[in-house]
Formats: sequence, structure tokens, C-alpha cells
Amino acid sequence: MPARRLVPLLPNPRLLLRSLNPSSAMSPAAAAAQLTTAADPDEDICSSPAATAAASSELEVAPPAPLPPPPASAEERVERAWAHWRRLGAPRLVVAPMVDNSELPFRMLCRRYGAGAAYTPMLHSRIFSENEKHRDMEFTTCKEDRPLFVQFCANDPDILLQAAKMVEAHCDYVDINFGCPQRIARRGYYGAFLMENLPLVKSLVQNLSKNLRVPVACKIRIFPRLEDTLAYAKMIEEAGASLVAVHGRTRDEKDGKKFRADWDAIKAVKDALRIPVLANGNIRHMEDVKSCLEHTGADGVLSAEPLLENPALFAGFRTKEWKADGDEDSGLDQADLAIEYLKLCEQYPVPWRMIRSHVHKMLGDWFRVHPQVREEFNALNKLTFEWLHDMVRRLKELGGGVPLYRDNSSTSQHTASNGLVATGA
Ligand SMILES: Cc1cc2nc3c(=O)[nH]c(=O)nc-3n(C[C@H](O)[C@H](O)[C@H](O)COP(=O)(O)O)c2cc1C
Repeated sequence: MPARRLVPLLPNPRLLLRSLNPSSAMSPAAAAAQLTTAADPDEDICSSPAATAAASSELEVAPPAPLPPPPASAEERVERAWAHWRRLGAPRLVVAPMVDNSELPFRMLCRRYGAGAAYTPMLHSRIFSENEKHRDMEFTTCKEDRPLFVQFCANDPDILLQAAKMVEAHCDYVDINFGCPQRIARRGYYGAFLMENLPLVKSLVQNLSKNLRVPVACKIRIFPRLEDTLAYAKMIEEAGASLVAVHGRTRDEKDGKKFRADWDAIKAVKDALRIPVLANGNIRHMEDVKSCLEHTGADGVLSAEPLLENPALFAGFRTKEWKADGDEDSGLDQADLAIEYLKLCEQYPVPWRMIRSHVHKMLGDWFRVHPQVREEFNALNKLTFEWLHDMVRRLKELGGGVPLYRDNSSTSQHTASNGLVATGA
């Protein structure tokens, strides 16, 4: 199935990130015009014969269904949230939103290896709603890319709704990012910085859930005090959210390697809410999935950074770092995943910068063994698929592969006892 229509584009994301400010005075058109002056080949969309064929196709969109009547009671709202979640197969293993990294080909790769649902990268509601080129470049999907959460950052309820309306036919949830702790989010006043303005959070959720055909999800961080986290999560549920994903770190705990996610806080949120709750943080392999679900009682987990290195994580594969006693070389190597990813990029084109980033993460261990290949890769101004495939072939010839490990017996036990989907298992 081809990707949704793509238009070859322009913006340099390093510059684009600077423009991701909902309150910026510059119009998106002006920002885009300014950005075209940057001639960085990494900003071009990759292309191949398959991509060229796909570029002219559109996703079929069913005529919009009428807006469902508002729920008559809180009970009905909760029931609807669960009915929707179940209709999607109650996916427990979810690819977290990642700017420049949870794009279509990567989502499709993770789906092949057990992911039951996935988030898009965060999209900027104002730029998205105003700039068609930006939309075509930053949001691509295909029929098989479901269940899908499309995530926006926003600080204006009407602009958020306008952006969300443009994607509602292509997704299963529209998600609001209340978790981004980066400086860019502080400047743009979105993400975790809205934790200081709960009335605005409430109106963003309310306006969206009243006017959208698909349910609203929210991705939140925790407050330092549990009672604040619980009041916050309950307010979001009452405002109309149908699902909450909780990243168990505070806004100041930016470094995921330094700060362990607080699964107790996630459990408390799960216990306090009546809608589905997903847990995020410290999911590095399937044993973590099992422990997290047991500990928190959450309905599923999100993983972000660990998936970048090991997109087969949800199918029970582990990197050497997390190899357990009894695990064996699975026969699957990170280079095999990189090749699968490249093929998906040929099918579902994305900017080269995303491909460069994924290749670095998937082949990082190979590059440590053969740094000269990494240097060549870094020095290359304009990537091509041919060059990348050849690079992987050369790495294999040089030797020192990076296998993924798996204990087949325990993986199948987990699959059976937890009902966790693991297509690669
Ligand atoms: C490269 C990268 C990009 C990210 N972009 C987003 C984003 O667009 N939206 C969001 O809500 N969180 C984003 N995050 C945060 C992750 O979704 C996740 O909450 C965080 O990394 C913790 O999960 P982990 O411990 O599995 O990495 C990003 C994380 C990474 C590593």
C-alpha cells in the first residue's frame, strides 16, 4: 500500500525546530519561505522508483461520519473510551511519539516486530493547520499504519481542533503532547510547560473531545507531588480524554538514562482513572514490559529510545546490553533491521535526515567496531539507498556483527501468559 501523497520539500528541521513556536509572530508561509534558502540534502525526501509511484497516490478517505452525540453521562464517556480501545484490539505494545524518529517507515518496521499501535512524531498544530507543504512532509501514513495516534503540540484550542480535523480520518486517536520538557517547548509554550496552566490544558482537551470524531488521548508527565499528578490526570479525564499515557518522570527529569521512571506514580494514576492508561519509561525489553504491566496495572506500555536501537524489542529480541541468562543469538542482526528499514523507506519516503538518524542508532554498535565506516557515512553530504545498502554489505564483510538475542522458550511463555502480541516471535 503506497504512502499518502507526498510533496518533495524544503524546511531544514534544525531551522524548523526554531520556528516551532505557536506564538511566533512569523507566519508559517514566511517561515517556510525563509527555510527554503537552506540547501541541505538531508532535508530532501528520499526517492526511489517505488517512492515515485507512491508519491502520486492518495489514501482513500471515507466520507466523514456525523459527530457522535455527546455522552449522556460520565459512565457513558468511560464506556465509550473502553469500547474504542477494545475495538482497536487493546494494543499493549506501543511505539512512543518521537520527533524525526517515529515516522511511517519506522512505525511499519516496529509493527512487523510486535508493536500493536504507534504514535506519529509530535506535529505542530499551528504550522500543520496553515502550511500544506509542511503537512505533506511531516505527516505520512498508509492503510496498514493503524492503530495510529497522531500527536500535536498546541496552546490554542481552536488551532488544535483545526489541525486535528485534518487528520481525524487517518487515525484512531488525536493525542495532545503535554510532556515535552525541552527548551523549544518552553519558548513555544506547549508540552510540559502547560502543566503551569491547567485551565488551558482543560480547554484544549474539552474543545477537541467535543468536536472530533476520533477520541482524544493525552501524553503527560508526572508532577513532583503525587497528589498534583492525580488531580491533573483526573481533570484531563473529566475534560473528555479517552486515554492517558503517563511518562513516569517529572518535567525536570529530562535524562531518561539518569532518572528511572516512577512506576508507582503510574500505578496511582491507573488506579485513579477509569479510562485506559498507558505506562511510559524504562521499557527496554519484554521482561520490563511484563514487570511494568504487573507493577502499574496499566493497559499497555510505550517505548521510545530503546526501540530506536532495537525496533524488534516488542517481539522479544534484546540487544547485547540486556541479554539475559539463557538468551541465544536469535539469528537476527541489527544490520538486518537496518536493511528492512531502508526498504520500508524506499516504499514510504521520508526526509533523509530521518534515515540518517535511524541508521546511526541501529548500526551504532557496528560503527564502534568499524569507526572508519561511520566517518565515511558522516562525511557523505548526499545519501542514496545504493550507498547505504553497500555500506551495510561492507560492514558485514568487515565482520563483527551485532546480533540480537532471544530466549525462545521464555518469549513464547510471555506471549501466552500475557497475551502480548509478538509477530516476530
Ligand atoms: C528522539 C526522541 C524524540 C521524542 N519526541 C517526542 C515527541 O515528539 N512527543 C512526545 O510526547 N515525546 C517525545 N519523546 C519522548 C518519548 O516519547 C518518551 O516519552 C521518552 O523518551 C521516555 O520513554 P523511553 O524511556 O522509552 O525513551 C521523544 C523521545 C526521543 C528519544
